[in-house]
Amino acid sequence: MRIMICGGNGQLGRDCLRVFQKNNTVQAFGSLDLDITSQELVEKMITTVSPDVVINCAAYTNVDKSEGDAELARKINALGAGYVARACSAIDVPMVHISTDYVFDGKKELPLSYAETSATSPLGVYGRTKLEGEQLVARNAEKHMIVRTAWLYGAHGNNFLKTMLRLALADSDRTIRVVNDQYGSPTWTLRLALQLEKLVMVKGHGIYHATSEGYCSWYELAAYFLKKMDVSHSIAPCTTAEYPTPATRPGNSILDNTRLKRGEINRMTGWRHGVDLFVSRYRNDLIEECSSS
Ligand SMILES: NC(=O)c1ccc[n+]([C@@H]2O[C@H](COP(=O)([O-])OP(=O)(O)OC[C@H]3O[C@@H](n4cnc5c(N)ncnc54)[C@H](OP(=O)(O)O)[C@@H]3O)[C@@H](O)[C@H]2O)c1
Repeated sequence: MRIMICGGNGQLGRDCLRVFQKNNTVQAFGSLDLDITSQELVEKMITTVSPDVVINCAAYTNVDKSEGDAELARKINALGAGYVARACSAIDVPMVHISTDYVFDGKKELPLSYAETSATSPLGVYGRTKLEGEQLVARNAEKHMIVRTAWLYGAHGNNFLKTMLRLALADSDRTIRVVNDQYGSPTWTLRLALQLEKLVMVKGHGIYHATSEGYCSWYELAAYFLKKMDVSHSIAPCTTAEYPTPATRPGNSILDNTRLKRGEINRMTGWRHGVDLFVSRYRNDLIEECSSS
């Protein structure tokens, strides 16, 4: 198959390239090669590449910055996604679109989780623009898979795990306060890319949740990861109220992979297993990258 990836330089985009290129011809585009906010360019590029499937990993992902940059966030997360959907529909190919736990308000009590059919109610600009993106994709691309995920980390780009590692390596005695009252399922981008490959193979349709199994708090994740990395640190738990951010974050980000399980196509594994594999594969690279920056 010919696979086209938008947002190919991001952490998920890079792992999609790696997974899909094993058995397919893949063309991945960064924002400089294909800016999805240009409808004309999107149409031209998708027509020229003439792929069998388009995977849209492109997004405005800075949750806090989006609060003051709503117009650009909407252009990329909503309108841009809609342009990709239209262009896919015009050549009758499926679109895989990546969305987020931030479409929910996270007010469910633990350990309740959100299914694909749960009511959406985003708390901020990022979540609202991603939800509008979902709606435009569903409306404009007849063949679509909208895959909601959460708490991504990967070898490429920046993420929470690398931030924790950088801080610990810079000064292992400095107390780092980490939020211990927001819960979610840390998900490795490589594992998610394998799940997307499965969804493409079975020609999925509609909304899917795809996160690691199980859940933890940000503090529990940081502690587990740094222990696995064998890096000394002084992290300490704190509450959301003690660590205010411009964007309000969902307290409960736990998604249930209901449709993947029902369809017997769930390739997601426990979050600890993902972190274990990530560390065993990348420990030295991570230390090198996070020591020097
Ligand atoms: N990170 C998370 O924890 C998380 C959680 C839930 C859902 N998601 C969703 O998962 C998907 C992938 O996230 P990620 O973590 O891989 O994000 P990421 O590393 O920030 O990558 C996003 C990519 O989007 C590209 N992009 C931005 N504006 C663009 C534009 N106008 N046209 C084309 N490309 C553009 C960027 O390209 P350049 O680098 O080339 O500028 C960037 O590489 C996104 O849909 C995100 O909303 C992420």
